[in-house]
Amino acid sequence: MATIIDYFSKKKESSLPISIVTCYDYSFARLVAQTSIDVILVGDSLGMVIQGHDNTLPVTLEEMIYHTKAVKRGAVGKYIIADLPFLSYQISVEEGIRSAGKLIKETGCDAVKLEGASAKTLEIIEALCEIGIPVMGHLGLTPQSFQTLGGFKVQGKNENTANKIFEDSIELEKSGVFSMVLEMLPEKLGQKISSSLMIPTIGIGAGRYTDGQVLVMNDLLGMNEEFHPKFLKKFANLSEIVRNSLQNFAKEVLTKKFPSEENRFD
Ligand code: KIV
Repeated sequence: MATIIDYFSKKKESSLPISIVTCYDYSFARLVAQTSIDVILVGDSLGMVIQGHDNTLPVTLEEMIYHTKAVKRGAVGKYIIADLPFLSYQISVEEGIRSAGKLIKETGCDAVKLEGASAKTLEIIEALCEIGIPVMGHLGLTPQSFQTLGGFKVQGKNENTANKIFEDSIELEKSGVFSMVLEMLPEKLGQKISSSLMIPTIGIGAGRYTDGQVLVMNDLLGMNEEFHPKFLKKFANLSEIVRNSLQNFAKEVLTKKFPSEENRFD
């Protein structure tokens, strides 16, 4: 298997779109492994879709390690990127190296992802690359900073903010990331960044012209009927399937239809 850095760079060279899905457990990782999806992201979005928090801030490094280990056991033959959660890398370069090293060492993931392009973040990325840890960047709506970005909304809508995000993408590439997520950007900005960089961009709500796309597994499977942002396409209606199956189980227990003859031992 090629290294994740080579894989991403060959994909960009040959203009082949990269597909990424988030995943948080063994059962779903096994299913992803049976598809042609390129990469699994163990996102800190697990704080919202698995743990039920309003945002990703409460997620800990230990929780990321727990979920990434479970995914690794099921995702045979797939590249795995794991998120560095809030406050596991922002404090200092030393802290960033310790957290990223622990995540890689204990889980066997191929790369880590972190958010933003502040001077300190760029320094941390350079330090991680220097010791051999592949890093994916993340710009636009960076959920760990949702408070200072005005909430979970489209970024880079005016000229100043668009220019800042564009400049950040250039700096991020220079710092050594092998790829970056662009979240919730106007399509034109997603296109400008993607055509200006050598490394592949992965969009989520950043339009049609990024080098790849990522979606949160639970969202694309339609597990939350109240969540329907414009950028999301639901490829299934799993909430209905799951609810109906559970209801049928309850009914069959009540009516003594289950277990039947064929579900018993002699
Ligand atoms: O945490 C996550 O799932 C992510 C994706 C939305 C890109 O960062």
